Amino acid sequence: MRILAIETSCDETAAAVVENGTDILSNVIASQIDIHTRYGGIVPEVASRQHVLSIVPVYEEALSRAELRLGDIDRIAVTHGPGLAGSLLVGVNFAKALATASGRPIYGINHMESHLYANWLAYPTMREDASRFPALCLIVSGGHTEMHLMKGHGKYQLLGRTRDDAAGEAFDKAARLLELGYPGGPAIQNAASNATGRYPLPRAWLPGTHDFSFSGLKTALYHLTHKEKLLGHPDRVANAAFSFQDAVVDVLVTKACRAADELGVTCIMLSGGVAANAVLRERLTRESPVKSFIPPLSLCTDNAAMVASCAYFTADQRSPSEPDLDVDPSLSLK
Ligand code: KG4
Ligand code: ZN
Repeated sequence: MRILAIETSCDETAAAVVENGTDILSNVIASQIDIHTRYGGIVPEVASRQHVLSIVPVYEEALSRAELRLGDIDRIAVTHGPGLAGSLLVGVNFAKALATASGRPIYGINHMESHLYANWLAYPTMREDASRFPALCLIVSGGHTEMHLMKGHGKYQLLGRTRDDAAGEAFDKAARLLELGYPGGPAIQNAASNATGRYPLPRAWLPGTHDFSFSGLKTALYHLTHKEKLLGHPDRVANAAFSFQDAVVDVLVTKACRAADELGVTCIMLSGGVAANAVLRERLTRESPVKSFIPPLSLCTDNAAMVASCAYFTADQRSPSEPDLDVDPSLSLK
């Protein structure tokens, strides 16, 4: 079963071919980071125009690297939400055209769900290992921070989510505040690696819930920036970046491990762009009470291989999408 997937939910134009859910035949990503860096963040209008320019060459490259033609593909999968409406529209319409031209079924895929299938690509033995369910899934991206109990393929129970900023969004805003550039996650991580000290910053534990909140931390960093006159002093900025990263990671790891204990899961699966954070990866690996799965860096941030894998493993639970498949910018994971 060969699935061709298209992903355009945010600022990466991506296409991939994956065989039987885990064998990546090609995984092509055209990043728009250089363009959005000029503006200090993603400009939706610019992102969708860039997808229009990139989608055909990215798709052609994906088929060419897999040494296949469209007729060799069995199914088409495409991210149809959540994400930026204009960006999603480019991918969904392109995928619908491919489905019509090839006569193959099309599957609309949830972007958050696809992130966690990066784990199936990274750990192919998960396919045989039925004991992985129930799993605790912590999905931490630029737009979302959610914790789900995964009871089987396509079966989720939402445990908690952020009440304000997503973890990635918090990293991006903190980096902007500290004038470290975009995207903020890698910039904060780099600056933090030069830290020689720390500042006290708050953690929102929201006791009795599995929810998260990062806006108070962001405000605290804002006040710290002015009070300690951080800007223009790389040593102070490094210490602030370290303290901020430490606070975000502390809450994510502590709450995920606590939930894993309470719910008796067999493993924790981390995914989403923030899963690329070295400190988060290291702390979760060290502190998790159960086995932890963390995809390699290349599969943490947006890509289409994870979309193809998700379509493969959830196909039994779902029928193909109708030809009038539409985008859903606020699609949630159920
Ligand atoms: O999943 P993703 O590629 O796109 C969305 O679906 O949102 O996540 C992008 C987010 C950005 O906010 C970026 O700053 C964050 O992932 N990120 C990181 C790191 N690398 C990317 N956050 C913390 N540390 C990193 N090393
Ligand atoms: Zn994403």
